[in-house]
Amino acid sequence: MEIIKCKSYRDLSLQVGIDIEYQVSRNSKLVLGLATGSTPKGVYEYLKSSTVDFSEVRTFNLDEYVGLEPEFNSRLKGKKGYGVPKHKQSYYYFMNEHLFNEVKFKRSFFPGESQSDTYDSLIDACGGIDIQILGIGTNGHIAFNEPGTSRDSLTHVVDLTENTIKDNSRFFDSIDEVPKQATTMGIESIMRAKQIYLLANGKHKKDILEKACYGDITSDIPASYLQEHKNIKVLYCD
Ligand code: GLP
Repeated sequence: MEIIKCKSYRDLSLQVGIDIEYQVSRNSKLVLGLATGSTPKGVYEYLKSSTVDFSEVRTFNLDEYVGLEPEFNSRLKGKKGYGVPKHKQSYYYFMNEHLFNEVKFKRSFFPGESQSDTYDSLIDACGGIDIQILGIGTNGHIAFNEPGTSRDSLTHVVDLTENTIKDNSRFFDSIDEVPKQATTMGIESIMRAKQIYLLANGKHKKDILEKACYGDITSDIPASYLQEHKNIKVLYCD
C-alpha cells in the first residue's frame, strides 16, 4: 500500500482526478469503478471540468440500495431517459447529479440492475476494472461489504448494519426511510481491479483508516483486505 497524506481535500481530489484523466487520455476504453458518498465528490468535480473524451469509457458502480434501483424504459435503451431514478438518495441519482449528467460515458452499470451474480461476469466481459475508487465506512466497510464479509465474496445482496443505517440516515428524512439492504460488489470483485484508490476525508475516518492499513487483515474490518492488493494508493486528509 502506498499511503499518502494530502494537504487538503482539494489536493486529494486533484491527485486522483488528474491520474484518471491521464490514464483515459492514454487508453480511451478505460473501465472505471466508481463509488458514492461524500468523499469522491471532489474527484467527480474535477472530471467534470476535464476536456478529455470519456465517451468510450465504461463505468461500474460499487453498490446500490435494494428497492431504490432506477426504473428502465426498455423503448429508450441506450438513449437519454432510459433509466429514471426512483429516489433522490439512490446511488443512481447521486451519480447522475454528481457526474453522469455532465460527463458522457459509453455505458454506466449498477449492481442490482440485473441479477447480482451476473455483475461480475459483466465486469469481466468488459476486460475488468482498470481504476477502482473506494471510500471507507466508519466501521471499515468498503462499498457495502460490512464487517464479517468473506474475502472471496462476489457481488451480492447484504443486510446493512445498524451502524451503516445510522451513518447514512443523515441523507434521508428519517432513519426509517433508510433501506435495510443493498446490492454490493464483493471483496473479491473489488480486489480484481487493476488499480485501487482508497480515499478518506476527515478526522472521523482516521482511526478506522489506521486499523485498515496497519492492523491485522480481518473480516472484522473489510477494508483491511486491501493490504493484499498489489497496486493500491491510500489518500487521506484531515
Ligand atoms: C456508503 C457507501 C460506501 C462509502 C461510504 C462512506 O456506505 N456505500 O461506498 O465509502 O458510504 O461515505 P462517505 O464518503 O460519505 O464517508
